[in-house]
Amino acid sequence: MTFPEQRSRRLRDHAVWREMVSETSLSPRHLVQPLFVKEGLKDRQPIDSMPGQSQLGLDELLVEARRAHEAGVPAVLLFGIPSRKDAAGSSAARPDGIVQQAVRALKSGVPDLAVIVDVCLCEYTDHGHCGVLKGPEKGQEPYDFSEKVPDTFSGPVDNDATLPRLAEMAVTCAQAGADMVAPSDMMDGRVGAIRKALDAAGLAHVPILSYAAKYASSFYGPFRDAAESPPQFGDRRGYQMDLRNSDEALREVAADLEEGADIVMVKPALAYGDIIRRIKDAFHVPVAAYNVSGEYAMVEAAAKAGWINREAVIREIFVSLRRAGADIIISYWATEFAVLRHS
Ligand code: PBG
Repeated sequence: MTFPEQRSRRLRDHAVWREMVSETSLSPRHLVQPLFVKEGLKDRQPIDSMPGQSQLGLDELLVEARRAHEAGVPAVLLFGIPSRKDAAGSSAARPDGIVQQAVRALKSGVPDLAVIVDVCLCEYTDHGHCGVLKGPEKGQEPYDFSEKVPDTFSGPVDNDATLPRLAEMAVTCAQAGADMVAPSDMMDGRVGAIRKALDAAGLAHVPILSYAAKYASSFYGPFRDAAESPPQFGDRRGYQMDLRNSDEALREVAADLEEGADIVMVKPALAYGDIIRRIKDAFHVPVAAYNVSGEYAMVEAAAKAGWINREAVIREIFVSLRRAGADIIISYWATEFAVLRHS
């Protein structure tokens, strides 16, 4: 009987060698915890489709932020849910808007925790799209949903009219103390517009985490409950990427880097490991992966039914994203994972 000279199991058979030669590291320093802050909410409101996650009032936001910080999670990603929405999403950029208030509260309550703000209009517009609409509806008046929006060849969202709104939001958030801004709207040119506006406002030190390769995905379903932001008509395929494309992701990343993005994101994460890897190999820049709400909900549902080992699956997901090339993982499990690491 002959044995091959190379035997794979020699280094697998003993935990010491397995640890010594493992290629991928994972620790809380790679993680970002998303949090939802809702204007006027006193306590917290659990999100049905995301068991374990809640919309938070300002006090509860601080509780969650402290938990994240104490567990070793370096940053949170903030989403604001305003009490009033209008066609232009005007509450997004108000210096006293909910997300700006939340940033100020976090920076004074938990100063060493980094705060990233998601910059987008969909939580602030009454029609739920990520930008302002074309046509006379663009103003401040509530949009009339009974009137059918003409399905024009270029879609209902006005790209260029949206850019100054996003830039304004980024500036007021950074002025409130946000350490980083993360545009998630997928308008063309928004990274450049935001960079220019930040620089002009004396905020050149604030980095941009761009949702560069953001796909039009069915995995965002639960998030839209959480952020109260489902589009009231149509869908987001006019601005988010077609899931059949991967070369296009490289072009999106190249454009965002050119415009001044500091970190680029791939979203969703689990079904997009190939995209993460291609971007990492092509650009050698920091890459973030967003482990989105639908990915979270699937695991929670299967775990509740007793069909999977929940904690092992979460770890496997995180490791797989790191192995794919993600430097940063944005996940609803961030704090919990970090807490478990320390217990
Ligand atoms: C848009 C935004 C979305 C998510 C993050 N930012 C929703 C969308 O594009 O419809 C989804 C995050 C998730 O599903 O966890 N502001």
